Amino acid sequence: MSKEEAPGSTPSAANETKSAAVSGSKEKTDELTFNVGDVINGYKLVKKIDEGGFGQVFKVTKDSKTFYAMKLELNCQEGCSAIKLEINVLNQLPKNNVFPEMKHGGKKVKFHYLVLELLGDNLKMLKARSPNPEMFTDGTWSRLGIQCLYALKTMHDRGFVHRDVKPSNFAIGLNTASENRSRRVLLFDFGLARK
Ligand SMILES: Nc1ncnc2c1ncn2[C@@H]1O[C@H](COP(=O)(O)OP(=O)(O)O)[C@@H](O)[C@H]1O
Ligand SMILES: [Mg+2]
Repeated sequence: MSKEEAPGSTPSAANETKSAAVSGSKEKTDELTFNVGDVINGYKLVKKIDEGGFGQVFKVTKDSKTFYAMKLELNCQEGCSAIKLEINVLNQLPKNNVFPEMKHGGKKVKFHYLVLELLGDNLKMLKARSPNPEMFTDGTWSRLGIQCLYALKTMHDRGFVHRDVKPSNFAIGLNTASENRSRRVLLFDFGLARK
């Protein structure tokens, strides 16, 4: 657990209510919106990375120095949650640089959240930015492919199938002060994974 996860750092319920603003419209009184500047569990949302059908991913920080990714998903009425499944899967996968490190995850009254190691571009973005395959050498393409397959094998070795294998669910690591991770490809998005 990171330094930021010290028990005393958990924000108050008042802070959380303020952070996840209730939409103004009467019809939407139960609908939450997450916006840049909001603070959730002590993490400030600094940039929206992605928004999909089920949730949103933000770049977040507690101290403006170390940044993470936070995935947010509104609770459905039946209590189902892809993030709950993701947390369960991540807890059973090895912590070996093949999957993003989980910093924090949990459930609030109206939403689930998951705080992960911040990664770089996903492989779909990377390809869109560099459509010419010759932008990468054969060696780089092979290295990418081998790392993708190794991540899947690692899941299979733990008895899981990912069931949502696609370029946007693999991303390049980001360098940290202590580690060069930009040559690594990591697999994520375990909401559909099953044993
Ligand atoms: N840890 C992360 N760091 C940086 N970006 C991330 C991270 N996790 C997800 N993303 C970005 O958000 C997108 C959606 O996240 P994902 O977990 O795949 O959820 P969804 O279920 O919406 O596909 C990813 O394709 C990736 O671009
Ligand atoms: Mg995805």
